[in-house]
Amino acid sequence: MNAPDTLTAPIDVAAVRTQFPVLAQRVHEDKRLAYLDNAATTQKPEAVLKVIDGYYRFDNSNVHRGVHALAARATQAYEDARATIARFCGHTPEATVFTRGTTEAINLVAYSYLLPKLEAGDEILLTEMEHHANIVPWQLVAERTGAKIVVAPVRDDGSLDIDTWRERLGPRTRMAAFVHVSNTLGTVNPIAEMVEMARAAGVLTLIDGAQAVAHIPLNFHDLGADFYSFSSHKLYGPTGFGVLLAKPEHLDAMPPWQGGGDMIDTVSFEGTTFAEPPARFEAGTPHIAGAIGCAAAIDWVSGVGLDAARAHETHLLEQTMSAIADIPGLRVLGTAPDKAAIIAFNLDGAHASDISSLLDMQGVAVRVGHHCTMPLHSRFGLTGSARASFAIYNDDEDVAQFAAALRKAAKMLG
Ligand code: ALA
Repeated sequence: MNAPDTLTAPIDVAAVRTQFPVLAQRVHEDKRLAYLDNAATTQKPEAVLKVIDGYYRFDNSNVHRGVHALAARATQAYEDARATIARFCGHTPEATVFTRGTTEAINLVAYSYLLPKLEAGDEILLTEMEHHANIVPWQLVAERTGAKIVVAPVRDDGSLDIDTWRERLGPRTRMAAFVHVSNTLGTVNPIAEMVEMARAAGVLTLIDGAQAVAHIPLNFHDLGADFYSFSSHKLYGPTGFGVLLAKPEHLDAMPPWQGGGDMIDTVSFEGTTFAEPPARFEAGTPHIAGAIGCAAAIDWVSGVGLDAARAHETHLLEQTMSAIADIPGLRVLGTAPDKAAIIAFNLDGAHASDISSLLDMQGVAVRVGHHCTMPLHSRFGLTGSARASFAIYNDDEDVAQFAAALRKAAKMLG
């Protein structure tokens, strides 16, 4: 649970909360809402809602296709959003591809970059803590080619067995794909070290940053990874929008994946030539409000400061862990030394969905199920868990409400 070693001023959480209208509501007969399902999706601040509303109200138009006033404004806002997003990630707009989310970004790399290069016997190295989005696309391309999925194990505390991971970077490894922050364990992987190890072994890297970008500053250029993907909706932005950051030389070498409008240079029935990246990978009318909303979310979160946000969330994690530690039968998955504010848990003898329903009745929103990490749950001998996950706007009252509700649920189910 390492806090960032910065001397950032604490965030004014009461002021932050006023910017999220959804949090002010009461649920289930006037219970205060403690929204702790942030790893599934974060709430959106007024600044983001306002920008999306303003876009549809005043500027709505297609991009890259018209010269009228609205088309020009929409195109400008869309490309400005790309510049904002790229800057936030320490990357260039030309190699920042817009997608529907992390899942589509990983599929794009699997199908367009890796598939044409894969041969029978090649290997793709994953970890046991991957989200299904960082497993299934690789399995699909492996099945087509006879390539193999190789998996590095997770230790009992939820940290990656990095020595084994390194040993499994073999001469046939064509891609090492791994998560930055586990959506179930909260484990923060040492991605800089992993990229370095992979580079030394001549292996390309793709990082699933879905749970990281709202919590840990990223500089894609300094990191030196080949690909990094994330979704806007876990970063206080809209759903249905995400980003693939890639080394420009990889994008240049990648054939199109989906065909359609906006990704071409010329089209005739004899043949088609394709646009330069990133347009080559953005077929069809894009999620314009998604891009603009994501950029607004980035401006907003940057205003609060990611270091301050991480320090605040680490405080919430520590408070929560000590508030629930003595609950009988509680089993928390993942206690790695470097851990984000995500707590997946079970109560002995109770079904995770019963725990979550009892929490919900007390106004506490948590996720339940396998969290799209079935292999990870199997590794711990589980089929699912309940999960509380924290964001910038959660406060000590949320922690107290969650701890009291869980204590009550444990009594009822015990
Ligand atoms: N991947 C998201 C989660 O962890 C949906 O809940």
